[in-house]
Amino acid sequence: MTLLDVEDLHKKFQRPTTMHVLRGINLRVAKGEKIAIMGKSGEGKSTLLHILGALEKPSEGELKFLGQSYEEHALSKLRSLHIGFIFQAFNLLDEYTTLGNLLMPAKIARKSVSKGSEAHDRALHLLERVGLIERKDFPAKLLSGGEKQRIAIARALMNDPDLLLADEPSGNLDSATSQMVYELLLGCVKESGKTLIVVTHDASLAKLCDRTLILKDGILS
Ligand SMILES: Nc1ncnc2c1ncn2[C@@H]1O[C@H](COP(=O)(O)OP(=O)(O)OP(=O)(O)O)[C@@H](O)[C@H]1O
Ligand SMILES: [Mg+2]
Repeated sequence: MTLLDVEDLHKKFQRPTTMHVLRGINLRVAKGEKIAIMGKSGEGKSTLLHILGALEKPSEGELKFLGQSYEEHALSKLRSLHIGFIFQAFNLLDEYTTLGNLLMPAKIARKSVSKGSEAHDRALHLLERVGLIERKDFPAKLLSGGEKQRIAIARALMNDPDLLLADEPSGNLDSATSQMVYELLLGCVKESGKTLIVVTHDASLAKLCDRTLILKDGILS
């Protein structure tokens, strides 16, 4: 089954100068597939991932999620219920606890997050899964980089999305911590049968995926 279908996608930025970053991206992703995207800095990998995650709009082209165009989906629902995003810079809410960070996507989806609710139980289960249950009430800002990324992975899984998008999940980590984060990410993806698209500079992460695509001169191949 096709989860994601991208046809002739273009992205131009008009400011500060006109830049044609994505120049006809075609991509079909099957449910359960794990895809790595590599490419030099500035080629547009983050831009592409943001568009796939409905965080940014393309200039041209057609995007379909489960056979329906992005416009036909309510974009906020697509973002909140179907897609989990893991950012390079973690993007945790520093003033919240780890548990508070995990509950945020559920709150945005207007689910109950009180003790004993399904979302609260899931958050505890995910904290357990990423090995940070004992840090449940710990402020996010005091976590180490590797711990922050583990929380970011758990948060992306919170609403049980179909698709996980990860933008250089080890961008800020040392190599031993990176390996641990990869294993956790791939482990969670496999267990729950999720589809993964991960942008990485690291060939060891790309090797763990089913296929690797290179973004160069605005084209993915
Ligand atoms: N909002 C924006 N407005 C104008 N230009 C932008 C904007 N976002 C990105 N760009 C430009 O588009 C190009 C691609 O940026 P992008 O962040 O997608 O690259 P990348 O492949 O993710 O690079 P890196 O590996 O360094 O993260 C860059 O030249 C960048 O300056
Ligand atoms: Mg980037």
